[in-house]
Amino acid sequence: MIGKIYGTGSYVPSFVWDNDKLSEMVETSDEWIRERTGIARRHIIEGEEEDTTYMASRAACEALKDAGIQPEEIDLIIVATISAGEIMPSSACGVQKAIGAVNAVCFDLNAACTGFLFALNTAQAYLGQGIYKTAIVVGAESLSNLVNWTDRSTCILFGDGAGAVVLKASKDGKYSQVAYSDGRKGGVLTCSSRNQKKYEKESVDAETYMQMDGGEVFKFAVSKVPEVIRELLDKENLSTKEIAYYILHQANVRIVQSVAKRLGEKMEKFPVNMGEYGNTSSASIPILLDEINKKKGFRRGSYIVLSGFGGGLTYGASLLQW
Ligand code: UT7
Repeated sequence: MIGKIYGTGSYVPSFVWDNDKLSEMVETSDEWIRERTGIARRHIIEGEEEDTTYMASRAACEALKDAGIQPEEIDLIIVATISAGEIMPSSACGVQKAIGAVNAVCFDLNAACTGFLFALNTAQAYLGQGIYKTAIVVGAESLSNLVNWTDRSTCILFGDGAGAVVLKASKDGKYSQVAYSDGRKGGVLTCSSRNQKKYEKESVDAETYMQMDGGEVFKFAVSKVPEVIRELLDKENLSTKEIAYYILHQANVRIVQSVAKRLGEKMEKFPVNMGEYGNTSSASIPILLDEINKKKGFRRGSYIVLSGFGGGLTYGASLLQW
């Protein structure tokens, strides 16, 4: 048994900050940000209602509709996030309440930017064991609340949004995964507090915001992502040519280009959307999956590789058959 994707959904705030807006806030430029990252805009939550749980619920609701499944049929909801508005109840319980999934078991999972991948692995383990039959896996982030908007080395990168998939236990298809964590290197990407208020930055110690050694994270990503993808393909006896798409965590277009080059594959197989959304951490992979699915971009039965990397440090790759 594996969990097959029956539906996808996503939600991004309508409020947008482009690079020119950021260049009014910190010493940067549209040209620098585009050249070094591929990012042009990011969507930012606005107002009281629009928070991580709200975005996660909207994405989950859309995924349910796409799957043609009733909320009561859902057995499990996992929300991958590092930016839930409250410590408890979990964002997943908030999603349950919002969509009326009264029969679901719900919890959040933190694996930073690899969160969606690890949540998907967790749901696959439950479905594979026959413990549950139907699950929603969501990646949702309000990173605008964690970012120091006076720090140009991080604030230009991140954005807010959510993506979701509905999985149903199935005898057909394939799911396989390789995942790693290296806590010894966790210091290169940290955030010691959450639920910051982005407009009250003067009152909060800068150290509590997101901190990153960008160069180290970059090196880690471009070496480990191709390695873990190769390990996954070797395990499944597949060649890179047999993969229709590689859906990578959307952190920096140069990371994606480097991974494509190291795997000897063309960029056409590596869709990117960070130009529009920036890095949305655990939400980036499911938002991209939803965009391609809605354009009918996946052929039934084709092989797709997902790969994520980020804080922890954590990284991994998963193979699925659409
Ligand atoms: O989800 C996982 C989390 N994070 C990542 O994946 C991020 C991985 N890292 C990166 O994407 C890149 O390292 C960054 C985009 C963060 C930085 O790009 P870089 O090419 O590694 O730049 P750098 O940090 O080496 O800085 C180059 C120069 C420096 O100036 P000097 O020392 O050469 O005079 C920086 O001070 O660019 C300067 N700089 C900026 N200039 C304009 C750094 N940030 C900015 C900025 N605007 N926003």
